[in-house]
Amino acid sequence: MKRFLLTVTLFCASCSSEQVIPIADVLDPADFESSIDGKEVKLVTIEGSNIVAQISNYGARLVSLFALDKEGNYQDVVWGYDSIDGYVNATDRYSGPIVGRYGNRIDKGRFTLDGVEYQTDINNGENHLHGGAEGVHAQVWEFVEQNDSSVMLKYVSPDGEMGYPGEMTLTVRYTATYDTGLRLEYSAVTDAPTVANPTSHCYFNIDGHSSSILDHQLQIMADRFTPTDSGLIPTGEIASVENTPLDFRTLTAIGKRINVDYEPLEFGAGYDHNWVFTTQSEDIAQATLYSPHSGIVMEIYTDQPALQFYSGNFMDGVDVGKRGDKHNYRTGIALETQNYPDAPNHVNFPNSVLRPGEEYTHKTTYKFHTL
Ligand code: GAL
Repeated sequence: MKRFLLTVTLFCASCSSEQVIPIADVLDPADFESSIDGKEVKLVTIEGSNIVAQISNYGARLVSLFALDKEGNYQDVVWGYDSIDGYVNATDRYSGPIVGRYGNRIDKGRFTLDGVEYQTDINNGENHLHGGAEGVHAQVWEFVEQNDSSVMLKYVSPDGEMGYPGEMTLTVRYTATYDTGLRLEYSAVTDAPTVANPTSHCYFNIDGHSSSILDHQLQIMADRFTPTDSGLIPTGEIASVENTPLDFRTLTAIGKRINVDYEPLEFGAGYDHNWVFTTQSEDIAQATLYSPHSGIVMEIYTDQPALQFYSGNFMDGVDVGKRGDKHNYRTGIALETQNYPDAPNHVNFPNSVLRPGEEYTHKTTYKFHTL
């Protein structure tokens, strides 16, 4: 890998001048130039205040995200690879992409809409996961707009792709903000009734490297979660987190209760559950991740009703990523803002149906500071 130095302007809140500092681990766009399915693939870099992101159009994927640690050094807080080949050949294909059309699981891949049963791709045991084997994460999106701090990508998913009805046009805009954040704005429209639940599937490690995430502390503003069967399909119940290891209403180390004897933790082999926010509101930090090592705090603001928190329980060290870091057991966590898994099969879950003439929208912002 060729390392490439990007010099960014550091906006210093406590001083009046601007400093310019280099980021050593910024990836070289040349290593991401390729052609997949006859479509051009490339990497773009966007910059806000004290935040830099790199995005590939292969799966509309967040490849790097640099935020400052408590020493004033930039850390890359997302897991990934240092070239496009790394992403194409990875055994875990969910490092940083947009997943969908339906994020997370659909029971046996089946749902019924207006009396018609649809069968989507089965790619996770007997179930459908993250839009199927060749979901939107595996497709080449088109860059449709770009400036220094923002980029918009578009993918038109043909009628029937991965078993979903209707041609769906999906866009996502990434913006590096001037209040040290990365904002994702999604939109989807369809020409026939279908279901929609796209989300971003990044593996965060806010220590900036491939160390255990068990010392990371997490808060989720959720009183309830959706229990599942052993295949991680929701039973339909919406249960309280009170007196369970899933109670993250106060900032708690992820490792503190991850190995306790509790059936939902057995099913997930650790944390792999959907938390239902107590109040659906984009005005409050619905989740907060903090590392006492780097001092980095990441807050998640979203207009979505729920969050899937997955603690990297299936990571096995086979994939080798940026800086030679191995994708070892529990070295990254996914925090996916979303509708509930399998909502198309549960009338008591939020609506997931999108009809012609309607627009699906979703906004999530990751904001950073240090302690
Ligand atoms: C999560 C899912 C996990 C696992 C992971 C990808 O969203 O809940 O079970 O499949 O994605 O490896």
